Amino acid sequence: MNIILLGPPGAGKGTQARHLVETRNMIQLSTGDMLREARTSGTEMGRVVANVMDRGELVTDEIVIGLIREKLEGDKAGGFIFDGFPRTLPQADALADLLSSTGETLDAVIEMQVDDAALVARITGRFTCGDCGEVYHDVTHRPTVDGVCDKCGGTNMKRRADDNEDSLRQRLMEYYKKTSPLIGYYYAKGQLRSVDGLAEIGDVQKAIAAVLD
Ligand code: AP5
Repeated sequence: MNIILLGPPGAGKGTQARHLVETRNMIQLSTGDMLREARTSGTEMGRVVANVMDRGELVTDEIVIGLIREKLEGDKAGGFIFDGFPRTLPQADALADLLSSTGETLDAVIEMQVDDAALVARITGRFTCGDCGEVYHDVTHRPTVDGVCDKCGGTNMKRRADDNEDSLRQRLMEYYKKTSPLIGYYYAKGQLRSVDGLAEIGDVQKAIAAVLD
């Protein structure tokens, strides 16, 4: 089964994708994570990507489609979770072409509905384990022992350079201008399912499970 998690920054896409990886043996394909890896590569491309991301703008379609193409050639396990991809209509068309060229289908697009007021608090309070990627929050989802990851025991907690109010404003603008048209696109294709992303993390997990089952 291949699915897209669609929603603005902070909607909870990464949090839910990690749960699906653990419970359904799916593979999370986060273009944000891939780009954060690329920015540490020391290449010219990495420097360009870092500047664009820190401003909260979108990286070019060509770069992200290339990253996804490479991943689709690898292990498919229980299917792919596209997290943060596609973000533009050309990316959506490219994904359809890539999947059909490998005989795969897109089974559901899950829109995580949230409101902007909640996103500021979520994004400014977020930190992640630098070792395993587990996502935490200063208020709503703290590790049991401060500074120690519940999942892997790592102590290397990190905050993202673009998790501040200025970048978030730009990221939201990009979302409404370029990504939200995908809601209509997938609705018209009969693939869109919506869940309440403002519910508690466990309730969002259940709502997504109900869609997938
Ligand atoms: P990316 O890394 O994809 O970031 P994003 O879309 O802005 O999404 P986030 O990772 O910020 O949020 P999320 O929805 O995963 O929320 P999370 O689960 O962490 O992209 C970063 C940048 O890369 C982009 O700005 C762009 O420059 C570039 N990029 C990436 N993909 C691209 C593409 N395809 N094309 C072009 N450019 C691209 O949750 C957030 C916080 O809320 C956490 O602290 C979590 O604990 C908490 N939380 C989660 N769910 C709940 C809940 N239900 N209740 C309470 N708290 C919750």
